[in-house]
Amino acid sequence: MPAHGPDTKPTDRHAVDDFVRGIPKAELHLHIEGTLEPELMLALGARNGVQVPYADADEARAAYRFSDLRSFLNLYYRGMAVLRHERDFFELTEDYLHRVHADGARHVEVFFDPQSHLVRGVPFDSVVAGISAALAAGERALGISSRLIMCFLRDESPRGALEVLDKALRYRDLIAGVGLDSAEVGHPPGDFAAVFAAAREAGFAAVAHAGEEGPAAYVTEALEALHVSRIDHGVRAIDDPALVARLRDERVTLTMCPLSNLRLGVVGSLAEHPLKRLLDAGVAVTVNSDDPAYFGGYLVDNYLAVSAALGLTRTDIAALARNSIAGSLLPAARRAELLAEIDGYVAAAEA
Ligand code: HPA
Ligand code: ZN
Repeated sequence: MPAHGPDTKPTDRHAVDDFVRGIPKAELHLHIEGTLEPELMLALGARNGVQVPYADADEARAAYRFSDLRSFLNLYYRGMAVLRHERDFFELTEDYLHRVHADGARHVEVFFDPQSHLVRGVPFDSVVAGISAALAAGERALGISSRLIMCFLRDESPRGALEVLDKALRYRDLIAGVGLDSAEVGHPPGDFAAVFAAAREAGFAAVAHAGEEGPAAYVTEALEALHVSRIDHGVRAIDDPALVARLRDERVTLTMCPLSNLRLGVVGSLAEHPLKRLLDAGVAVTVNSDDPAYFGGYLVDNYLAVSAALGLTRTDIAALARNSIAGSLLPAARRAELLAEIDGYVAAAEA
């Protein structure tokens, strides 16, 4: 890689592209059902006899124009209806791993939404077995380590969350953590305090979506009522300077998803995205893709889009990659190993 002088200015876009693709990194905010590309949706729809509301992939992509989170979730839950068997979840996960491997990911933490499958009569076991088998195969074939995180749907009842946690207890070896997703506004984190307490008691890691469409106060509430170690999104944290200082001081990782935020109108433009301001304030920000099949880009696309819009330097990009490893659920020794790889990569790029 050519030298680019002092790394305080935005660098040449091509050099940024190579640098971003090559740097070792982790993806920490990825809904596996949101990686369902229209082509696979149509193929699985045909195979499983499930009607898909699009004639072809182009028509699906043309329909992916969202005004807010709810309008996305409507298509997201509708699209995933083609996922019925263990094999479907395996193929879905396998496709994602190949894409993220090409993006330089060394580790991924994958969300899944079991309640959205149980309600359609798909057994919990088919979902977990299919995803887990593909993650294990991906580790062997591609060297990508992984963790699986089960999300509770916050627009369903806390009782429903307790029921699905009960099922997950039998899969403690395959499921590393619990999360909280779906429609945020009107569904504050505190509603799920009991199920998160039970999950943490059972040894699950805890994360939660907060401050995507909901206010900064939901981020605070997720920290205080759910005791989460990471906040998914956290965009609105920027509205509360005391919260920003707290996130910095407590080293809370934010798993931000720039293209998702743009497509759902969480930000009016990427230039307005608070990612760089939070990074400069010392918050452990990361870049992720959320639901890449719906939002027009995988992991590297998100890094590149936000780098271009906010003028990120290679120093910023390396910080984002380091944060993704440091904020992962990996054991300390593996985190140290990957962080050392990043150091080596950065040093070689500067030479
Ligand atoms: N936000 C909340 N819930 C979700 C999302 C999201 O971006 N994607 C899938 N479930
Ligand atoms: Zn998400």
